[in-house]
Amino acid sequence: MRSLQQLFENNRTWAADMTRQDPEFFRRLSTQQSPHYLWIGCSDSRVPANQVVGLVPGEMFVHRNVANVVVHTDLNCLSAIQFAVDVLRVDHIIVCGHYSCGGILAALQDNKLGLIENWLRHVQDVRAKHRAELDALETEEKQHARLCELNAIEQVTNLSRTTVVRDAWSRGQAVAVHGWIYDLSDGLLRDLDVTVASELEVERK
Ligand code: CO
Repeated sequence: MRSLQQLFENNRTWAADMTRQDPEFFRRLSTQQSPHYLWIGCSDSRVPANQVVGLVPGEMFVHRNVANVVVHTDLNCLSAIQFAVDVLRVDHIIVCGHYSCGGILAALQDNKLGLIENWLRHVQDVRAKHRAELDALETEEKQHARLCELNAIEQVTNLSRTTVVRDAWSRGQAVAVHGWIYDLSDGLLRDLDVTVASELEVERK
């Protein structure tokens, strides 16, 4: 109970497998990381960032929080973005939402869950902004799915308005911000087609 022995055993098996496939793997990774992608996704245990896009350690910088929210005053998220853009110089930032998101459902239903309600307030702001579109959908299931999409799209806009991304663009650094959604029921990703790669594209939205 105290030692979580199984997890350590899994870890030794995994490390041995990786070393068998590539004897230099850990030695190389321990000296540097040069990922091309920053992933901002939900904390949901069913959406493991690297696995769903088939990337090994070292290939993607990851930040996750409940309902994949990018808040302008969230120093944690902003620091991850700043480090990824300014230091690691990633080419792409992906905000990935997912259908059946519990955080989004709680925001939609106004559930009483304690402290987290304050965090999900940001998703409720997205809901309020798109209330007419959501109300026009006939079932709560459809509203839930659409709010999962709208929330990811909104975070792309928030990201593209951060000083970090705007400063990168203004100095000519190429970095594209994408909005994706992951479907738990079939394991597939879908591009929400809201990619922005310049200040001009943000203004057009
Ligand atoms: Co979620």
